[in-house]
Amino acid sequence: MKLRSLVPLSYFGITTILFNRKDPLVGSIILTDKCNLACKHCAVSNITSILYPHPQIKAEMQKMYAEGVRILFFYGGEPFLWRDHGLTLRDLVIEAKQLGFLLVNVVTNGTIRVDLPEADLVMVSLDGGREKHNEIRGDTYDTIIGNIQSASAKNVCLYMAINQINKGEMEEVCEVAKQPGNVKAVSFNFHTPYPGTERLKLSREEKQDCADRIARLIDEGYPILNLKSALPYIVNNTFPTPCNQCVVMENGQQWVCGRCIDIEGLCEECGFFFAAEFALLFSGNARVMLDMFKTYMKYI
Ligand SMILES: C[S@@+](CC[C@H](N)C(=O)[O-])C[C@H]1O[C@@H](n2cnc3c(N)ncnc32)[C@H](O)[C@@H]1O
Ligand code: SF4
Ligand code: SF4
Repeated sequence: MKLRSLVPLSYFGITTILFNRKDPLVGSIILTDKCNLACKHCAVSNITSILYPHPQIKAEMQKMYAEGVRILFFYGGEPFLWRDHGLTLRDLVIEAKQLGFLLVNVVTNGTIRVDLPEADLVMVSLDGGREKHNEIRGDTYDTIIGNIQSASAKNVCLYMAINQINKGEMEEVCEVAKQPGNVKAVSFNFHTPYPGTERLKLSREEKQDCADRIARLIDEGYPILNLKSALPYIVNNTFPTPCNQCVVMENGQQWVCGRCIDIEGLCEECGFFFAAEFALLFSGNARVMLDMFKTYMKYI
């Protein structure tokens, strides 16, 4: 991470903890719910399939920036499908940087050419080795690996949602990340049981087994953008929810933490590592603070 970003982000963190502030730092903008895939674990794609217009997205960026957000994610659906009057995802990333966001990241299924050198991180979802990934995401594994290899910058971070189908395959994803090329790191989540996807959730014991293996992979030096110190809280769902420093916007509406906040009881089963890691950080957990500093300095 560059000093230009580190200094204001550290200031935000320290003042949030000292004064118990609830201002947001991390924002996600959903560009569309349109998607070219129909993954087994996903409950948020192709509900309206609308590509939100550029003026609306620009207004969302400006609103978030004015509220203090400095780390921005573009989400979907599939964000690489977004278009408006000749503008593409790349134009949005450049615009966000010009507005002053310190880190601008994208989360993608990786099936469309990964050509976004302007982004700090391109999170590419990879849900296991070829067989299990394809079971979840259709026959896409080889295309995604090809797109990662030909990506135009070393700014890829693999993103794996661990569920009943692929719970044995974190090691396979870590091996891909370790190969020389465009991948900086891997980031994990546990399946969050949105209505209709409950059958894929992990038991507490299964989460513990996965967490032990992630901790071992971190110790063995695999590039993992998660915090070992947060794992016990994630396994036991004992981190504070919602994360007040995270906000999401879609179609002019804003939520604290995630849109999932509207689903009754879901926060108690949340599997999103970022929500846990940021909530613990801003609650003043010293081990998580130190761990995040070391991990983010290494991989971002
Ligand atoms: C909703 S997708 C949008 C971006 C893009 N289409 C993709 O697949 O990366 C963002 C991330 O959420 C993950 N995801 C989807 N449903 C989930 C669930 N129920 N629990 C945890 N992660 C989930 C996906 O695997 C993906 O990594
Ligand atoms: S690619 Fe992403 S948005 Fe599309 S169905 Fe899969 S997880 Fe959902
Ligand atoms: S389930 Fe709750 S805690 Fe988890 S990301 Fe969604 S709103 Fe945040």
